[in-house]
Order: sequence, then C-alpha cells, then structure tokens
Amino acid sequence: MIAVGSGKGGVGKSTVAASLAYGLQSLGAKVGLLDADVYGPSIPHMTGSTGKPEVREHLNPNGSVVQRIHPVEHDGLKLMSIGFLVPEGEAIIWRGPMLHKMLTQFVAETEWGELDYLIVDMPPGTGDVALTLSQMLSLAGAVVVCTPQKVALLDAVKAIGMYQKVNIPILGMVENMTGEIFGRGGAEQAAADQKIPFLGEVPIEAEVRICGDERRMKDLFIEESKSKAALESICARVAMEAAKVYFKKPATTTLEILQ
Ligand SMILES: Nc1ncnc2c1ncn2[C@@H]1O[C@H](COP(=O)(O)OP(=O)(O)O)[C@@H](O)[C@H]1O
Ligand SMILES: [Mg+2]
Repeated sequence: MIAVGSGKGGVGKSTVAASLAYGLQSLGAKVGLLDADVYGPSIPHMTGSTGKPEVREHLNPNGSVVQRIHPVEHDGLKLMSIGFLVPEGEAIIWRGPMLHKMLTQFVAETEWGELDYLIVDMPPGTGDVALTLSQMLSLAGAVVVCTPQKVALLDAVKAIGMYQKVNIPILGMVENMTGEIFGRGGAEQAAADQKIPFLGEVPIEAEVRICGDERRMKDLFIEESKSKAALESICARVAMEAAKVYFKKPATTTLEILQ
C-alpha cells in the first residue's frame, strides 16, 4: 500500500496517483486506487469511471453474514472514492468523525481482493485526516509530490516530516510540473537534503492536464504520449523503492487498522 501525499493541494498528487496506478498496471501488476482525498476527490473524474461501489453480503466461515463494499472496476483497476458517493461538484461537509468512519470503511470493509499495489491518493497537507489515515493504513511507504519552486518545497518537507513521525518510510519525492514556469531541480535538491530517494520528474505538459480534464488519464500511457516515458520511469522507481522497504519488514497480507 503506497500513499501519494503532498504538502499542499494542486501540485499533481492525483495526477501522480492515477499515473502510478495505470503505470504499474501496464508493467503487469494488479492495482487498486483508493481516493482518500475527501476534500477534493478527483479520481472518478480523471479515470472516467462512473460506477457505484456495491454492498454485498458475504458469508463468514463461522456462518455469520457480513456486508462488504465492492470497489468500482474500471480499466482493470479497482477504484474507491468518496466521489462515487456524492454528486460531482458537491462539497463534502462532514466533520472529522464522519470522515474517519468513511475512510475506515474504505479500508477495512472493502473487498479489494488480491492486489499487488494499492495506491492511496491522500488528502493534501499534514492535517487531521492525512495524519489519521497515515496511522490507520498499513502503508509500505509514501511518495511525496512537489512542484519545483522553493515555496512549494517548504510544504513538501513538512509532509515528509509527518510521515517520518508516524514511522512511514518515504519511498521518495516526485517533482511535478517541471519546466520553464516553475523551474527545475528543486525537488531533487530537497530529496538530497532530506536523504530520501528522488523518483523523477514529470514535465509540465498540456496533455497531462487535458487527459485529466477529459477523463482519460489512461491515455498518458499510449505510445504517442509525450509523458509516457517520464511516468513509466517513476513507476519503476516507486516499485523498486517499495520492494526495498517491503522486504525489509515482515510482510502484512491483511490491512491492519491501528486505532
Ligand atoms: N505535469 C503536469 N503538466 C500539466 N498539468 C498538470 C501536470 N500535473 C498536474 N497537472 C494539472 O494540474 C491540476 C492539479 O493537479 P492534481 O493532480 O489535481 O493536483 P492535486 O491532486 O495535488 O490537487 C490538474 O488540472 C492537473 O491536470
Ligand atoms: Mg487531488
């Protein structure tokens, strides 16, 4: 289970999370994508998935019946998002305990099946929801997304600090929107300063924005895509870093809720 976090919103967290899901899938993995950004769920839109999670009854070995949530299947990915439960464009105005309950259900009561990776698009920042989630999920590690400017990097360093405080390994940093406007290399330098891996950069490219807006993030992985090589390279680096930490600690096959 890999969290994709950031110091603030709008830096491309969902773009990177969706790209990791599609990219790892194209490398042959079975992937789920949990949209835990309760403030701005954008995975349903970006992937173009319109289904609804279904609640089905399951029979326990001891004969009791439990209700399990089935994620939406789309493009071969298993998706779960608060965005499937509220109409697009409607604000989610729940307070902390409600959000906590919903996210717990997404993790503990969802029938994810056998997955190689579950990518979690985290809420931005280091607030209550991000912190609770990081402690609740049994994460292999976190990928921190950042844009190249110094001002954005300050927030990213705070996000790194939050994960480290709750003992979640940092798989590394991704620089997004690299290019003329925001500059280049800031995240790589910050990663070096923090002694964490640098996972690569995603250049600022109209097609990235267009594919997200037009509900077809999958198209970033077609042959003609200008961003394909950069994204695939990041996916491979993430897989490698995740493998390193995964094999260092005892394997967990079930989701552990640490409450
Ligand atoms: N590398 C990029 N090039 C161009 N546009 C991008 C890039 N990365 C993200 N975007 C666009 O920037 C906006 C914010 O990205 P998003 O992934 O929604 O950020 P976050 O989830 O961090 O709030 C979206 O419209 C997205 O399509
Ligand atoms: Mg987002």
